[in-house]
Amino acid sequence: MKVLITGVTGFVGSHLAEYLLAKGDEVYGTYRVRSRMDHIQPILSKIHLMECELKDPVSVQQLIEQVKPDRIYHLAAQSFVPTSWNSPQDTMVNNIVGELNLFEAVRKQGLLNCRIQIACSSEEYGMVYPEETPIHEENPLRPLSPYGVSKVAQDLLGYQYHESYGLHIVRTRTFNHEGPRRGEAFVLSNFAKQIGEIEKGLKPPVLHVGNLDAVRDFTDVRDVVRAYTLALDHGTPGEVYNIGTGTTWRIGDALDELLKLTDTKIEVRQDPARMRPSDVMILHCDATRFMSKTGWRPEVPFHKTLQDMLDYWRDR
Ligand code: GDD
Repeated sequence: MKVLITGVTGFVGSHLAEYLLAKGDEVYGTYRVRSRMDHIQPILSKIHLMECELKDPVSVQQLIEQVKPDRIYHLAAQSFVPTSWNSPQDTMVNNIVGELNLFEAVRKQGLLNCRIQIACSSEEYGMVYPEETPIHEENPLRPLSPYGVSKVAQDLLGYQYHESYGLHIVRTRTFNHEGPRRGEAFVLSNFAKQIGEIEKGLKPPVLHVGNLDAVRDFTDVRDVVRAYTLALDHGTPGEVYNIGTGTTWRIGDALDELLKLTDTKIEVRQDPARMRPSDVMILHCDATRFMSKTGWRPEVPFHKTLQDMLDYWRDR
């Protein structure tokens, strides 16, 4: 099968590419001039890398015309919530226009059998009241960041292109995911990186944090990429599925678990610059719909995710 991953050089993209190669798929992936290649270095000779700027419709049309994929995993996005406050327009254009160009290219090529997974987000739920948890797909969407709004738009565009043109689009609303190679800006990876640096004496034994009271449902990235393939194997076109474990961690408690993995004594200090204008306080997933449809279950224990992430940063 010919598979295209947008954003193959990223955290999820690189794990997905490895998983698909092991399954025997022919993997194509997009990158941009400024993309870092270190995550995909070990598989560079096994995949077809295509330079593509998703914001440019011509670039995307050439890509789709050339590859004519059987499946597309659309992962490329501006994915860090705080960046979306600093550059809201860039987030909107990258995430919404990028996807629009992709759908238009597939539509114009008449690839109605091409199955497309789009990476939507639990951030779309945004303001969730305690009595509304765990969160199922019919919960109201009340995004609290420009990023969340961009993901609602991506999600609904997916619905609309399925309804209007019959494209085979499956929408996945993934809750937080972590694991080795996670970007250093994201919470647990950032904490693990700081611990690694402190252990090596590269920084004083003070770990900077933001809001420790937020609650998140963390899935290991290796379970997430398996979920994405199952979404295209068994998911109903046009449908939306939550992906998450159903177990939550207060960020402060997750940090305590990470700190148990080091012998170094570390002081935890709040940094006002790490606080957000409005934070999503609780994201607790109800993935019943996805589990019933696909048989997916998370397999990697949270503590293995933490350990692997810490080892990743210790090795760097
Ligand atoms: N990044 C970061 N750094 N977050 C911190 C810190 C810190 O030092 N301290 C506390 N937090 C809190 C944030 O305020 C937030 O409540 C939570 O930890 C998680 O932050 P992130 O890891 O940045 O992730 P996110 O929840 O904002 O968004 C992630 O998950 C979404 C799915 O729900 C991203 O991966 C999104 O791309 C994804 O869609």
